[in-house]
Amino acid sequence: MTTFNAMIVRENADGTFSRAIEAKSIDDLPAGEVVVRVYYSSLNYKDALSATGNRGVTRSYPHTPGIDAAGEVVQSSDARFKAGDKVIVTSYDLGMNTAGGFGEYIRVPAGWVVPLPEGLSLKESMEYGTAGFTAAMSVDALVTGGVTPESGEVLVTGASGGVGSIAVAILNKLDYRIAGVSGKTDETDYLKSMGVATVLSIEEATDTSGRPMLKPRWAGCIDTVGGDILSSAIKATAPTGVVTSCGNAAGPNLDLTVFPFILRGVTLAGIDSQNCPMPRREKVWQKLASEWKLEGMGKVVSDIPLRDVEARIDDMLAGRHKGRTVIAMA
Ligand SMILES: NC(=O)c1ccc[n+]([C@@H]2O[C@H](COP(=O)([O-])OP(=O)(O)OC[C@H]3O[C@@H](n4cnc5c(N)ncnc54)[C@H](OP(=O)(O)O)[C@@H]3O)[C@@H](O)[C@H]2O)c1
Repeated sequence: MTTFNAMIVRENADGTFSRAIEAKSIDDLPAGEVVVRVYYSSLNYKDALSATGNRGVTRSYPHTPGIDAAGEVVQSSDARFKAGDKVIVTSYDLGMNTAGGFGEYIRVPAGWVVPLPEGLSLKESMEYGTAGFTAAMSVDALVTGGVTPESGEVLVTGASGGVGSIAVAILNKLDYRIAGVSGKTDETDYLKSMGVATVLSIEEATDTSGRPMLKPRWAGCIDTVGGDILSSAIKATAPTGVVTSCGNAAGPNLDLTVFPFILRGVTLAGIDSQNCPMPRREKVWQKLASEWKLEGMGKVVSDIPLRDVEARIDDMLAGRHKGRTVIAMA
């Protein structure tokens, strides 16, 4: 019987949650057609919530978080996959209520498995992970919505975070002029080195006038935080611009009128990476492996072993996390 290491989150008798690395057996894993030996995972905001007992993400404990995994198939009862295939598994229920990528093995339905695209290594796929995939879905929404580098400046919010950093890097590669909102006032140099031309503080990005529309400033916006920053961005988006929404750390509510939509033709595009249909999922991974591939992600990515994840989770929940964290499982 194969045993392996995994992070297990347990609920304590007093209602608090603790995390430890423990030995598990493949027999402990949920049912599924494909067993994958995980070589790399990555840290996403949802993992930080799952690891600290957020019932909106994970209903029952003990549990192994990790919404991202990349590795090699060791066993498959589905004809689409065979032992030795290199694959990516992200989203669906992985790491939420299904034991996830913070374990050295996962067992999942074949419908969740994406063959590793040519041009991408397993580690590179986790440098993107769900955050990079979500950033790429967001850029894709701007591009297909007709926002070009000539349209004007694109705003990225939560710019130093995982989704924000990769959105900035892809837009920079595609020659867009970028403005970035960040609450980390000491990260201006990092953001400028990533290609952000204009750095805005949260105060500068939050409209307090109460006006239904503002002077058009943005050709498009990739929002990762929601709340007043998102509503301010929508009000300041130029005619026919596209704004994407994927996160809510700054709040789930929008204080808006319909005027930006009916008087300027602004599009608000929702981004849901979890339920992204497989054909679009494969298309976005292909883009990340080819024309949108980011070379030299060293500035954005740091690598840690599983035992160091706990401290990163604390950083993430405290808003101190920067860029992307890849977890080397081997
Ligand atoms: N819809 C989807 O499919 C999908 C997929 C992946 C992620 N998400 C969501 O997208 C968001 C970003 O994910 P991530 O992995 O990039 O997380 P992350 O690395 O923690 O980055 C989030 C960034 O948001 C900013 N931020 C945090 N709290 C804020 C607040 N109260 N007000 C304003 N800005 C705040 C911070 O950036 P600055 O310090 O630079 O301001 C932070 O670095 C999360 O909410 C996540 O749940 C959604």
